[in-house]
Amino acid sequence: MLIANWKSNGSKAMAKNWFNKFFEKYNFKNEETFIGIAPPFVYIEQINILKKSNINTGLQDIEPFSGARTGAISADMALDLECCFSIIGHSERRELYKESNNQIKEKIINLDNKIIPILCVGETEKENIAGKTKQVIQNQLEIIKDYELHDLFTVAYEPVWAIGSGKTPHAEEINEIHKFIKDVVQSISTNDLVPDVLYGGSVTHKNASSFFNQDFVDGALIGGASLDGSIFAEIVNIYNGTKNK
Ligand code: PGA
Repeated sequence: MLIANWKSNGSKAMAKNWFNKFFEKYNFKNEETFIGIAPPFVYIEQINILKKSNINTGLQDIEPFSGARTGAISADMALDLECCFSIIGHSERRELYKESNNQIKEKIINLDNKIIPILCVGETEKENIAGKTKQVIQNQLEIIKDYELHDLFTVAYEPVWAIGSGKTPHAEEINEIHKFIKDVVQSISTNDLVPDVLYGGSVTHKNASSFFNQDFVDGALIGGASLDGSIFAEIVNIYNGTKNK
């Protein structure tokens, strides 16, 4: 699974240009790979027209309920525009908008299997240096304890200090954390789900293969490098060459 997180970037012109560059570079051989684009919601309809069938659209954040929730995009609206996944609990939502674990839990447990949740977890640099990475992640995952998860429930391991910084943990460290996340989710969810775990944080076409070569890395959540259609296509091609030979 490869997800492009455009964050609050883009324009109608950028979206058109993005797909031209993407399709020029994308190698169509492995269509079973889940490719998702999470643009700002206002561009979803345009992207639905520009994309091809094996590319999915999704949200960067979601509100499970419709109604009196000013400014929020509800799950029903997402479904209406054929979105099938949503990023939830991104560290920018946690930091800039003060989203708590409890609010993130409300989103995940109220989606009722309608939308695939991609839950972001990860430690700050300070927590990493203090050796608290697993403890922080365990705490962030506790929100799904005793819940039956969507079959495609996915976790993105995104160390906060790696996002947009050009720094990443070593591939082997990422692999170890991914294994830990799979074990924790399996042990606390009622359906014993072993989720796919994506890595996110400064992934580019230059370092992607080192991550995809790891057994427990099931894909990537890509921010900055996903804004160029050609580079994102290259990362998808590298993934297909490594995982879906
Ligand atoms: P980045 O962002 O690839 O620019 O580091 C990843 C993310 O925030 O999901």
